[in-house]
Amino acid sequence: MKKIGVVTAGGDAPGMNAAIRSVVRSAIYNGLKVVGFERGYAGLIEGQIRHMGPRSVSGIINLGGTILKTVRCREIKTPEGIEKAVEVLKTTGVDGLITIGGDGTFRGASELYKASGTPMIGIPATIDNDVAGTDTTIGFDTAVNTALSAIDKIRDTATSHERIFVVEVMGRKRGFLALEVGFAGGAEVILVPEIKFDADKICERLIRAREEGKTSEIIVMAEGVGNSRQVADWIAKRTGYEVRLTVLGYIQRGGVPTARSRALASEFGHHAVELLLSGEKKRMVGIRKGEITSIDLDRSWKEEKKLDLKRHKLAEILSQ
Ligand code: F6P
Repeated sequence: MKKIGVVTAGGDAPGMNAAIRSVVRSAIYNGLKVVGFERGYAGLIEGQIRHMGPRSVSGIINLGGTILKTVRCREIKTPEGIEKAVEVLKTTGVDGLITIGGDGTFRGASELYKASGTPMIGIPATIDNDVAGTDTTIGFDTAVNTALSAIDKIRDTATSHERIFVVEVMGRKRGFLALEVGFAGGAEVILVPEIKFDADKICERLIRAREEGKTSEIIVMAEGVGNSRQVADWIAKRTGYEVRLTVLGYIQRGGVPTARSRALASEFGHHAVELLLSGEKKRMVGIRKGEITSIDLDRSWKEEKKLDLKRHKLAEILSQ
């Protein structure tokens, strides 16, 4: 192994830059050359390459987004796209590729491995935390804290005006972000796609809470549940209370990565290089019960990660 590539793909996540820095410097420390493929798999297919020296990653550990840029690339899902990417990997002469992203990124990497035989190591980075084989992903902690600080501010108005606030958070089809934000934010209700909710029961709970002395409530709703406008309107109609909706949106994807996101990215990047050096062909790095580990790359996107239902129940108990 003499030369490796690194690419960020799919949605950006805070801490991706810390992961690039770690990959580049760990590789150079071990005598490897590194090239960065720009603009995700789209740039890889087009051969957009950047040579990465140790100084190319200076001053980025604290930056959100990704200096290599990223694209949601459809072409990598086609046989033609894979063929072009394999050709670029060959002409660039990389002996291994480190892909930083989510399950879609790893699916692409698995296809690339099948077609090229080039070793592929995945580093999980997504605010959704919806990747099997790792307890948490790069960017998740930052997104949780960003959403949390927004909710803390919203609570001021909720309390002052005695309102119910529905706060929609991201997470794609899963409720990991909503659950963590709702749990830490003391939300009265947490709506996630994994748990079917009974709208009548929720309204009854809200009414009972008011009768028992509560004067405001926060409902954290994962985007994967459905139309938050409809949910807010329905609750207003059914309960008669004042309800407002806030959709947090892309502020959750950006910003300065937290210490946890940076540290995780630094550990993951280093371990990914070590896996390539030890001859691994297709793995995804992860953290489980505090330990840096790895699983087969295919499992990371074929298996479904379970939501902690006990945590959801506990959030409900504690928000009475
Ligand atoms: O995967 C991260 C994420 O922000 C999801 O939470 C969200 O559903 C999606 O990306 C939005 O995708 P896009 O950036 O393509 O609009």
